[in-house]
Amino acid sequence: MDRRKFIKDSAALAAAGVVAPGVLGAEEKKMQAQRPQDGKEAPAGKLITSAPMLQNYAATSIGIAFSVSDMANGYADVSEAADMSGARRVTCGGYRVTDLNDKVMLIRVTGLKPATQYFYRIGADRIRYKGGYDMKILGSEEDPRTYSFRTAGPGAEARFCVINDTHAKYDAFARTLDKVAELSPSCVVWNGDATNVEETIEDQVRIFLAPPVPRSDYASQTPYLFCPGNHDSRGMANRHIERVLMFRQPEERSPRDWDLGRNFAVRMGDIAMIGLDTAEDKLDTNPIFAGLFNSGAYREAQAVWLADVLKRKEIAKAPFLVAFCHIPLYDPDPTRNPGDVAPADKDPKYTTDFAMWQRTCAKLWTPLLQKAGCQLIITAHQHAYRFDAPDGTRKWAQMVGGGPNLDNATSFPTVIDGRVEGRRLVVRAWNVKTGAVLDERSFAAR
Ligand SMILES: [Fe+2]
Ligand SMILES: [Fe+2]
Repeated sequence: MDRRKFIKDSAALAAAGVVAPGVLGAEEKKMQAQRPQDGKEAPAGKLITSAPMLQNYAATSIGIAFSVSDMANGYADVSEAADMSGARRVTCGGYRVTDLNDKVMLIRVTGLKPATQYFYRIGADRIRYKGGYDMKILGSEEDPRTYSFRTAGPGAEARFCVINDTHAKYDAFARTLDKVAELSPSCVVWNGDATNVEETIEDQVRIFLAPPVPRSDYASQTPYLFCPGNHDSRGMANRHIERVLMFRQPEERSPRDWDLGRNFAVRMGDIAMIGLDTAEDKLDTNPIFAGLFNSGAYREAQAVWLADVLKRKEIAKAPFLVAFCHIPLYDPDPTRNPGDVAPADKDPKYTTDFAMWQRTCAKLWTPLLQKAGCQLIITAHQHAYRFDAPDGTRKWAQMVGGGPNLDNATSFPTVIDGRVEGRRLVVRAWNVKTGAVLDERSFAAR
């Protein structure tokens, strides 16, 4: 605007008792000085800063997570109808109070029907909190998109994908997500080492909720299951990764297994999927960890949990039983460290001073899985694809997923794609770098 015209117009407005935007009279200036908080209260910038991520795929519940930029009370509206008629609103947090915070909204939607399509939208109220009697909604924001998902259950379509060891390498991650989108599974198992060493919740938000990739809404309509890797417990923020990746619903486990919030036993069509956490790749006694890890007891507790869930009707009766965990439960190479070399993981006969595979977990869990007729265990951690066929004593096969590199001939990303075709479980490993099928195996019903 021409400066002389601006001054003239402002003077005319002032004479008429109207102050032009940005031009304050003496009285206005005085009033503003008396209300220093008002300017700060005006909503600034986008409140919802990520697309929603569907977590903890299950038959009767789903987790919905998204990030925010300010103190907020998030919610999801969920309906069986595409036009959102009859939607019910679920707020973040649990009973008693909502989870007011300025980072991540975690919404648990329960009471859903198995193998059913739902539509949902997300929103959040921006909250000014000055004290226990001084709280105010400053405004609300809603994501304009309507998303949808399908719940698990015996009637669900039996198609899973597995990704692993993504390690926040976004070029490889972007291409991995393209392959997953092309395969269009009912759910994705993220089989650990999604992170590296994360010290802040902002780092975790970037990895899980707002990754810098074209498909940043990768999990808005495809639910995810998560099996932690050894890296996913490292760093101050990762010690509480549940602030970004919520624990499973409490009703999915007994009170005895209260702390096993990561394990899953989910029926999806003819496949029963079991999720286990192999935990750290170093012993609890390794001095590098300063006594701050408790993997040993955790693995034993999971064995007790596993024995029970394998008896659950919908799991026991599924024609196919597939288990997922990060660290392999078998390795044919005798120079590979089996993770039980006390006290500090060091032995010159092994090539690494950390676990390449997990003999302790294998001893605790695989007899139970074998007895139940488990056909396949899908693992990760070694950053190179491998298939271990069953042998005389080991009745289950193992697939080891690839790594996060796009410039290495042997360590490239894979997507493992499992689906029931006819009366068989067909599992294909895709090389994300070339886009080609790397390996294909099929399994008879148990
Ligand atoms: Fe890894
Ligand atoms: Fe790993």
